[in-house]
Amino acid sequence: MGLFKNYVSQTRKPEGILGKMMLQGMNSGHAKMADWGLGHLQSIDPENIVDLGCGGGRNAGELLRKYPKARVTAIDYSELSVEKAKEYNQAMITAGRCCVQQGDVSSLTLPEESYDLATAFETIYFWPGLTQCFSQVAKVLKPGGYFMICNESDGTDATSLKFEKIIDGMKNYTVEDITAALKEAGFSKVKTDHHKKKPWITVLAKK
Ligand SMILES: C[S@@+](CC[C@H](N)C(=O)[O-])C[C@H]1O[C@@H](n2cnc3c(N)ncnc32)[C@H](O)[C@@H]1O
Repeated sequence: MGLFKNYVSQTRKPEGILGKMMLQGMNSGHAKMADWGLGHLQSIDPENIVDLGCGGGRNAGELLRKYPKARVTAIDYSELSVEKAKEYNQAMITAGRCCVQQGDVSSLTLPEESYDLATAFETIYFWPGLTQCFSQVAKVLKPGGYFMICNESDGTDATSLKFEKIIDGMKNYTVEDITAALKEAGFSKVKTDHHKKKPWITVLAKK
């Protein structure tokens, strides 16, 4: 595998030295888009949150700052992401407000009907089957709980389609694809937004 392909493939499951570099880059590189996404959470006050595919843990940290009374569980199937997210959120872990666990979104072992909010930033491209994974998210959300997805790709932009050809197992989705899978997985209301200038999307679904 060429170095470039190897490096960009670290977005799917960070491992080794290149994975470490990628995690550092993701925390800063996704910040603007993630903050734009977080701005869509206006009328809810969640107590128990889960961030899925947490990567380096920056967005879990932002959720803890946005909701000072909340507790955040951060999940990732990469050992390295878990390590980095723990390091990033160490103070909050010590304070008992954050917990980082290794886990796969396609078979979540979290307690059922326990979370008010689940978030997924820049990660669903790699999930093995949207409907199956969204059903797992629905399973751990409380009735009336919310699931927010934020992607830098709206499923049609040239850059992301190029990366889809390079990174094995990556798939870009349109808001229509995501909405259909959410409905199939049992979510009732789905609201979507597209950034005015960039191909960024936010999808907010209610269980
Ligand atoms: C591009 S990174 C995004 C990380 C972070 N959410 C952010 O916005 O910076 C994708 C992350 O999703 C994780 N991931 C991908 N598929 C997963 C799955 N099935 N279960 C858990 N984590 C997954 C990867 O290990 C990686 O850390």
